[in-house]
Amino acid sequence: MSKPITVGHFAFTPKARRYVREIMKSGRLSYGPFSQRFEAEFARLHNCAFAAFMNSGTSALHVALQAMKEQGGWKDGDEVIVPAQTFVATVNIVIHNRLKPVFVDVDPITYNLDHRKLIDAIRGGKTRAVIPVHLHGLPAQIDEICHDARAFGLQVLEDSCESMFAKFKGQPVGSWGDAACFSTYIAHLLSTGIGGLATTNNPDLAKRIRSLMNHGRDGIYLSIDDDDGLSGERLREVIAKRFSFTSIGHSFRATEFEAALGLAQLEGHEKMLAARKRNAMRLIENLRDLEDKIQLPIVPQDREHAWMMFPIVLRYEDKAGLTQHLEEHGIETRCIPRIVDQPCYASEYPDLAERFPVASWLTRSGFYVGVHSALDVGDMDRIADCIRQYFQVVRRVPSIIAEETVTLDHDADLTYAGKKATEPQPRSQPWTQPRRENAAGLAVSEESPNPLGAST
Ligand SMILES: Cc1ncc(COP(=O)(O)O)c(C=O)c1O
Repeated sequence: MSKPITVGHFAFTPKARRYVREIMKSGRLSYGPFSQRFEAEFARLHNCAFAAFMNSGTSALHVALQAMKEQGGWKDGDEVIVPAQTFVATVNIVIHNRLKPVFVDVDPITYNLDHRKLIDAIRGGKTRAVIPVHLHGLPAQIDEICHDARAFGLQVLEDSCESMFAKFKGQPVGSWGDAACFSTYIAHLLSTGIGGLATTNNPDLAKRIRSLMNHGRDGIYLSIDDDDGLSGERLREVIAKRFSFTSIGHSFRATEFEAALGLAQLEGHEKMLAARKRNAMRLIENLRDLEDKIQLPIVPQDREHAWMMFPIVLRYEDKAGLTQHLEEHGIETRCIPRIVDQPCYASEYPDLAERFPVASWLTRSGFYVGVHSALDVGDMDRIADCIRQYFQVVRRVPSIIAEETVTLDHDADLTYAGKKATEPQPRSQPWTQPRRENAAGLAVSEESPNPLGAST
């Protein structure tokens, strides 16, 4: 059996080992020089003045939104706009902050929040913020989103947990909104095991975020260094306020170990990004002849892709047969992060799948494979061969016939695989609603009640 092609990887580089050894020698585990260096360098690379490193991207999103809520004096039940296609954390942190998520469908080409639908979701004077997500590594249409949000006085919190470094119109993700959050969880662009960062250019938000991740502690004492060199009146004040908490906060801190891993990888991130791009381009080249069956990632000319993952969406079919075939051949797959069919939202939002046809299509037909830097072009060729084999040999069922075809008029000037689009360029891309679904949620046609061979 050939080696597994995974969706992510982690390697202890010599530099990471050196940094970890330094921590073991110093005995300093709590917020210290590695965390500070990691934060400063990460913020600089994303054109931000402040970054706070903590224990997850979800934690970062939670405290960033909470900081906005406190700063703006929002009320419980106020609304926050989120894409209908994202990882559950984007939605959950809105709910945990006692705010109400309002969903907007995503763009069928970029899979990110469809900015043309944003204004319709702003209603009743209760909307306070929008959380665009840069899904899979590709920036959302963040200029238009910020423009419309600001016109209505909304805050913009970029969920950049799947993207880093990538630029939109020359400016990095994370630098467009009022704050942004990143994840360094396993299989992300930088991986520290657990971890996440919140960035902002707003000093008041930065102060609140740092306090909220430290139990809501008074900003006078957030690190054990904060009383170094103090004396007299100032020292007395710090001692008095060390255990003073000004907000209801959280214990979201990370340690120097995670920061050291992040810093070591940050220092080699250009090579990592280049390898991912090389792999993604190779896969796109190799899969071009299947474009009538699958939609490959498209990178609009005005932005870069960080290629955290490589999404593949079947145009007219459920993904289950293809993902099973890939997994049987040692190629890991994962569903595109999704919302509309999640059991946890079913009682509160029972009709998401019907209301958001693009998210519904991606949920049914979209998955991703890895293009990370431990893989090479040979691995990409293996993925492409396996997908081709599925369509040419394995699959014996007819495509599901379109019942309802929605025509898109996508205005963006698109490039495909980094080149100006020629043929075939899906400016008018149909996607379909299956006629009905079986008990397992798989699409079935009249002719073949169980076309994918899955048990029901
Ligand atoms: C879009 C998105 N938001 C938030 C998160 C949460 O990040 P973490 O797992 O670090 O909490 C993820 C994680 O993959 C994500 O994909």
